[in-house]
Amino acid sequence: MPVPKAELHLHIEGTLEPELAFALAARNGVTLPYADTDALRAAYSFGDLQSFLDLYYNLMAVLRTAEDFTELADAYLERAAAQGVRHAEIFFDPQAHTARGVPIGTVIEGLGASLDRAEERYGISTRLILCFLRDESAESALATLDAAKPYLHRITGVGLDSAEVGHPPAKFREVYEEAARLGLRRVAHAGEEGPAAYVREALDVLGAERIDHGLRCMEDPELVDRLARERIPLTVCPFSNVRLRVVDTLADHPLPAMMAAGLLVTVNSDDPAYFGGYAGDNFDGIRDALGLAPEQLRELARNSFRASFLEDDEARRAR
Ligand code: HPA
Ligand code: ZN
Repeated sequence: MPVPKAELHLHIEGTLEPELAFALAARNGVTLPYADTDALRAAYSFGDLQSFLDLYYNLMAVLRTAEDFTELADAYLERAAAQGVRHAEIFFDPQAHTARGVPIGTVIEGLGASLDRAEERYGISTRLILCFLRDESAESALATLDAAKPYLHRITGVGLDSAEVGHPPAKFREVYEEAARLGLRRVAHAGEEGPAAYVREALDVLGAERIDHGLRCMEDPELVDRLARERIPLTVCPFSNVRLRVVDTLADHPLPAMMAAGLLVTVNSDDPAYFGGYAGDNFDGIRDALGLAPEQLRELARNSFRASFLEDDEARRAR
């Protein structure tokens, strides 16, 4: 039995496996620029974050109806359950869909139909986190939050993703302030390709309660001390970091150094359909490549519930 864990850094659009992409393309009359699933998989060789994002956004063309989003989430939850995931805090990128003419309500209601049955069907509790695309404007982020207002009962928090460098967190100060006023939790990607200064800014300007990736904090010892002292969780994604060339190989991953520095780190899959595996695969990968001891793996699993937005006693029940 895989160790029970929570997944806190998972883009639902990044769980779109080639087989489902082709099935949805056929159903929706979308032509993909790949002959078959093998040809699509062969394109999964990324030089950096942007080269991945280009493919990730293009493939979303197959997602059109609420049922498509329901099937996408069902497929993720089934795979996650098999790998020991008991709780999932799921990111979605509404602007990537509204820009193609898919209404935000279609996305949220479609995902919601799957998440409503997730406990019963898959034994997974869920939360939904709405992400703003940081390479879009601050005005677009504000309009997106506004459009989400009829659906806030389904949304736990907001996040910030997409191309990091050149799009510092402070650009989104106003929309994060509004999210806080609405009672939403706040997380942000920072320190993946961007500098340690973006991690500080996410904390100080956006009020981020959790940092997604955050690896480059290791370049700033004072920041590491602060993150450790304040118990700010970092949602680390080892397979993603290798595939997007943030680190050279799994064996070079700074995860052990991060744990040794007293950081509250968790292990997650980010975009598992693209990066070679789901949450349990990431746990197995780091165990093998980094020689982590069973107690360290248990600590990472415990951290995942501690860092989650589950209430304390709910978190205890989940693991
Ligand atoms: N970084 C930034 N944006 C993203 C990622 C990521 O790893 N995955 C999906 N959108
Ligand atoms: Zn991510």
